[in-house]
Amino acid sequence: MKPHATPGRNSSPRFLMCQPRHFAVTYSINPWMDPRAWAAGGAALNQTANVQWAGLHGALTDAGAIVETIEPEPGLPDLVFTANAAVVLDRKALLARFRYGERQGEEPVFAAAFAALKARGLIDEIAAMPAGVSLEGAGDCIWDPARQRLWMGCGFRSDTAAAPILERQFGVQCVTLPLINPSFYHLDTAFCALPCGSVIFYPGAFSADGLARIYECVSPAERIELTSADAVQFAANAVCIGNTIILSSCSAALRRTLEERGYAVVETPLDVFQRGGGSACCLTLRLDHRSRTIEAGVAPPEPGDVLPQRIVRRA
Ligand code: ARG
Repeated sequence: MKPHATPGRNSSPRFLMCQPRHFAVTYSINPWMDPRAWAAGGAALNQTANVQWAGLHGALTDAGAIVETIEPEPGLPDLVFTANAAVVLDRKALLARFRYGERQGEEPVFAAAFAALKARGLIDEIAAMPAGVSLEGAGDCIWDPARQRLWMGCGFRSDTAAAPILERQFGVQCVTLPLINPSFYHLDTAFCALPCGSVIFYPGAFSADGLARIYECVSPAERIELTSADAVQFAANAVCIGNTIILSSCSAALRRTLEERGYAVVETPLDVFQRGGGSACCLTLRLDHRSRTIEAGVAPPEPGDVLPQRIVRRA
């Protein structure tokens, strides 16, 4: 499972992806997955997946990213959704523990991939979740660079009990957001924190408590609320590199809203992956997120330290 890199500069954003050679819908663990419809589509669907994946890969490298890839494995069709591999911050990786047996076979593959990244000096530390606590990586745990915190979705795949583990592991605050809509079962299907502090989210995905937490931390001017029409094309499942936002598709109105905030929107069709319940963000895992504590060379808090409750705002 040796990751290979495509060329790029050292300071470039770096992602982990897995080519969809074995991508298929052979079981159903979310409402988007229909194995019979996939089988009826025949080999053409996997071919389209490969073309669409290459389009996303190209959009990422065009935006200046380096892409590490892991070798696809037969029998693990969802391995392509690398966002779920781990939570990665400050060169530390906390490996995922999957909720369902269908994806648990991916755990040793991702562990080997991270061991290889560590051997190459791209990751310093690898940690595992304690037994019995599920956490499906960055798919449910999103780094918010403007607020210097993690947002964690819980309810369908990841356990609320993962939040204090994340806080201890990374020395940053972790806010839990209970998810209530089975179609938006991972946080990244309905939530995207942009570097400027704006947050794209679909209100229909969250419990009243979860929404209240978003409203408490994200000012009205920073909220980009999705209509259900944008939500069901997974417009929140976007990858942001600098001022470029890469997503499968979105409405003209959402494009305008993002452009008004200074972003260039790149649409690259990924609808075949939505048959598996994923899109742009799910197909990538950012490996180089850094917290400000680390950037400033300040010692991170020790486990058990009281973490600051105040929201760190942009200067
Ligand atoms: N079929 C996969 C699952 O249900 C899709 C995962 C999508 N990943 C994500 N980060 N939302 O687990």
